[in-house]
Amino acid sequence: MKNIEWSSLTFGYMATDYNVRCYYRNGKWGEIEVSSDEYLKLHMAATCLHYGQEAFEGLKAYRCPDGKVRVFRVEENAARLQNTSRGIVMPEVPTDLFVEMVKKVVRLNQEFIPPYESGASLYIRPLLIGTSAQVGVRPAEEYCFLIFVTPVGPYFKGGFCANPYVIVRDVDRAAPLGTGMYKVGGNYAASLRANRRAHEQGYASEFYLDAKEKKYVDECGAANFFGIKNNTYITPKSSSILPSITNKSLMTIAEDLGIKVERRPISEDELDSFEEAGACGTAAVISPISHLDDMTTGKVYNFGDKPGPWSTKLYETLRGIQYGTIEDKHGWTMVVIE
Ligand code: PLP
Ligand code: COI
Repeated sequence: MKNIEWSSLTFGYMATDYNVRCYYRNGKWGEIEVSSDEYLKLHMAATCLHYGQEAFEGLKAYRCPDGKVRVFRVEENAARLQNTSRGIVMPEVPTDLFVEMVKKVVRLNQEFIPPYESGASLYIRPLLIGTSAQVGVRPAEEYCFLIFVTPVGPYFKGGFCANPYVIVRDVDRAAPLGTGMYKVGGNYAASLRANRRAHEQGYASEFYLDAKEKKYVDECGAANFFGIKNNTYITPKSSSILPSITNKSLMTIAEDLGIKVERRPISEDELDSFEEAGACGTAAVISPISHLDDMTTGKVYNFGDKPGPWSTKLYETLRGIQYGTIEDKHGWTMVVIE
């Protein structure tokens, strides 16, 4: 294993030894290539640079207490990337190719997979870009699909602890019929302004309401939202949020643990009635929300300075499945290294 101070890692980029790449040309995907180059040579008129033909994914590999390395729901990430590809007219990466490349890049960089005790993991970042030249607004003919990995610590300082969020009303990350449900770079570019301001004001992240009416809860920066009340896990239904694989898993876990699940519009007013609330995602895992501030109305929604009992139970169960210490009864994990 590399000599890295694993437990001090933050959620940032660190170079690893290899990335894997596959090129789409003449209507088909080529062979998987292994590269040790961190750079891409790109045509200056590539569609990813001008017209945003860019999509990414995010998942993690976990070094488990039984010595194996597992990845979580990799086929779901492949399926979401395929959906994103349909959304911005790019060729779909077949699931088999996606999974093969994930396995390969994790195995090639196994010395960078953090030890179990550190709490860190190996973040896997698939990226699909249009590479051929266009000047008119049209999709590219050639594409590059690559995956790099980087060891990461918690997305928010302190890991599993409650953090404050702030509602933004003057910035939308996505329009109701736009690209919010796709994992495309443009959504993140649209969020940077609000994200920077939230950080400057001391919040963990910005928090979005629906773009059309500013009445319903959308999501928490780069993570989905859930609230808990009356033994029910409640999460927004919205056309402009990313379908989070973590959230989908938590809905199943919540049912397994015997609480009800509701996926429906959540009006801002309802926030007052939640006993617990949190952000969830691959990077965020579960990040409980301590309070949510609406600067425009002056309203503050309090959910407690410590992670609540259901958030804690959901977190522990999710982590247990990911690290192979709780039975994976839905077949969500894949052993990549025995
Ligand atoms: N919402 C946004 C905008 C995201 O960027 C992410 C991260 O991928 C999520 C939600 C959480 O999705 P997942 O649980 O699949 O990582
Ligand atoms: C993730 O949770 O995987 C994300 O992509 C969030 C952020 C780093 C974009």
